[in-house]
Amino acid sequence: MKNNMLKQANNNLMEKIVSLCKRRGFVFPGSEIYGGLQGFYDYGPLGVEMKNNLKSLWWRWMTKEHENIVGIDGAIITNPKVWEASGHVKNFVDPLVECKKCHHRFKADDITGDKCPDCGGPLTEPKVFNILVPTRLGVIEGEKTDAYLRGEACQTIYLDFKNVIDSTRIKVPFGICQIGKAFRNEVTPGNFLFRQREFEQWDLQWFCHPSEMNKWFEFWKKERMNWYKSIFTHPENLGFYKHEKLAHYAKKAFDIEYTASPVGKEMEGIHWRGEWDLSRHSEYSGQDLSYTNPETNEKFIPNIIEASGGVDRTFLFLMIDAYTEEKDRVVLKLKSSLAPYKVAVFPLLSNKPELVEKAKEVYNMLKKEFNITFDGRGNIGKRYYSQDEIGTPFCVTIDFDTLNNSDVTVRDRDTMKQERIKIGELTKFLEEKLK
Ligand code: GAP
Repeated sequence: MKNNMLKQANNNLMEKIVSLCKRRGFVFPGSEIYGGLQGFYDYGPLGVEMKNNLKSLWWRWMTKEHENIVGIDGAIITNPKVWEASGHVKNFVDPLVECKKCHHRFKADDITGDKCPDCGGPLTEPKVFNILVPTRLGVIEGEKTDAYLRGEACQTIYLDFKNVIDSTRIKVPFGICQIGKAFRNEVTPGNFLFRQREFEQWDLQWFCHPSEMNKWFEFWKKERMNWYKSIFTHPENLGFYKHEKLAHYAKKAFDIEYTASPVGKEMEGIHWRGEWDLSRHSEYSGQDLSYTNPETNEKFIPNIIEASGGVDRTFLFLMIDAYTEEKDRVVLKLKSSLAPYKVAVFPLLSNKPELVEKAKEVYNMLKKEFNITFDGRGNIGKRYYSQDEIGTPFCVTIDFDTLNNSDVTVRDRDTMKQERIKIGELTKFLEEKLK
């Protein structure tokens, strides 16, 4: 009974988030006018602003706040041998069954009965299944070559490892980071942005000496958690999940989870990849991907720790985390660094040309500094409601007193407190508040 009520509450919350996302232009179902395509979504005008804010926070944190991290932007399609070396071609061609509840996949041969061994949920029928999304290159039939859309973005980082070292002279330990699309033929795409077929990942691949793996693993585990805590409204909803079943090359693996999620919880994996990736690509490409320490001349294959997260999942969890219902209003309590608009400017009455003109003047002044919006529709209450729902931290209203005193009302999204601020001090005031 209690479980059913929780499930219902979770479904309701997801319905509200999906509906808000579509209604206010955060996320639209992909190719909707043709009936949609399962597992594909488009970000709308507000969604793309927020997603860009999120990605630039990540990028700045990686490349500007850590001395030894550089970025790349790799191609989505690579030489198909990459996916043989990575193990994706071989490891995903078995008949698999997938649990409809926890989405764990199992080789059909390993399963007895029709229940998931991990959670007891129902299983899909066995399918010969490869998670890679194939594509064909070339224009002449019969001469086309098979390739894949990348199944995980990180592979291009390994491919560029040598070029990065040669072109930058960066020394181990160092990191290469990237934000980019990945594609997977998920058996059961669903739960909105949580399990898609096309999605975006942000990756840090950290290359270090094998003897330092433990030290760096613990460093990145803590560092990544602290970063996520800095962007969530309720950091107490974040936690670690420790993997018990490990890949053969891994000594440990943790997920950073959004524990209050009504759908799946995994947001980022902190993985011990050891020398697996560089040694496999050395073997398959015939290129030496080892590293020689310029001081000691020691030659070794750098070991890898990865922090591989989902941009879309983080976006979804941030929306869930920020969504708040308070009396008669819905408020998206996003951190201001993530909010699509930082400030909304209104004339108190839209049918008074002198107020509209002054409001435009204030709008033109502020737009040089902040991403802002102008709203002249409906009444003031509706405008506040509308801005709260999309997470705009401050609303600036121009009224008749403004014309005499050159001050405006600034209203805070979270406290709803209103203050009178001189127009001449407005930019500085907002800069301080939005820090
Ligand atoms: N390079 C390692 C790797 O790709 P993963 O755990 O499969 O590891 C990393 O993926 C992250 O990518 C996940 O933690 C999740 O946030 C995101 N992700 C994976 N599959 C996804 C999907 N189908 N839809 C949306 N995000 C996904």
